[in-house]
Amino acid sequence: MTGSKSLPANLDAALDRISADIDAEFAQLLAVPDDARAPLYEAMRHACIGGGKRLRPLLVCASAKLFNVDYDAALRVGTAVEAIHVYSLIHDDLPCMDDDALRRGKPTVHKAFGEATAVLAGDSLHALAFEILAQPSVHADPFIRSELIQCLALASGPEGMAGGQIMDLEAERSSFDLPTITRLQALKTGALIAASVEMGAILGHVPAEGRVHLKGYAHDVGLAFQIADDILDVEGDEALAGKALHKDADAGKGTFVSILGLKRSKEQAQLLVDQATQHLASYGREADLLRSVAQYVSQRDR
Ligand code: IPE
Ligand code: IPE
Ligand code: MG
Ligand code: MG
Ligand code: MG
Repeated sequence: MTGSKSLPANLDAALDRISADIDAEFAQLLAVPDDARAPLYEAMRHACIGGGKRLRPLLVCASAKLFNVDYDAALRVGTAVEAIHVYSLIHDDLPCMDDDALRRGKPTVHKAFGEATAVLAGDSLHALAFEILAQPSVHADPFIRSELIQCLALASGPEGMAGGQIMDLEAERSSFDLPTITRLQALKTGALIAASVEMGAILGHVPAEGRVHLKGYAHDVGLAFQIADDILDVEGDEALAGKALHKDADAGKGTFVSILGLKRSKEQAQLLVDQATQHLASYGREADLLRSVAQYVSQRDR
């Protein structure tokens, strides 16, 4: 769709490229029809275009790059993961969940379009993700497409993001111990991040037994990413984050920071980043982007 053929090795340039390309993909996928469904498409465009770090598509493309996968194919898979991520954010912000008014520096979808439209925009993005993965332009081999679909489905449902979200709601009522919080975060945030890295490898025809190091990398990056989110909730800048902060403690929610404190949480995040980097030891310069992403994840300010 975009005709871009490769991802720059430099992190800032890669983030810029991915952001522009994901915006273009969604703009094309979500053309507003001239009928009564227009508000649904407008709501999806509001949520999907402009904003967000696009970390998951970046991980798909950076992982696919290790195996010389065509960039446009990886970008489509990244768009599918981002569609699931955006749907999860729309629903996460609803009054029945976190009840937030600001997301990516804009009003949340239910604030701008109403709750019913927000629910349907989330539902539609969920479906769109799998529609994208089922298209032959993602990969000519239907077995590869089916494996991609299975990987994303597992990471999105009760074994992944949705399972983590229900544990997260429970964390406001129960006091979970550290292993339970770790499992919660691994599902809520880690599963989609891990799936992003894994789908790059699936596109590259890497068999399951060849993905062990990448899985280790993705697991550690996913946890470091959520620890950073919990730290940002305590000491981040709302204008930079583009969302309301200081919510976890107010909700009495168990997080890494509530259990470990800020200092140990930061140490833990750095430890995970170092460990993630060690998992890439068998790769050469082609993995430099994945190494930079690991550092970025724990040092981010948004
Ligand atoms: C926010 O995700 C929600 C979590 C899973 C912690 P991101 O921090 O990736 O949000 P965007 O996509 O950049 O807006
Ligand atoms: C949301 O976690 C994770 C998902 C959307 C799956 P949070 O509730 O911590 O995310 P933010 O802080 O609202 O972005
Ligand atoms: Mg939440
Ligand atoms: Mg939230
Ligand atoms: Mg948060």
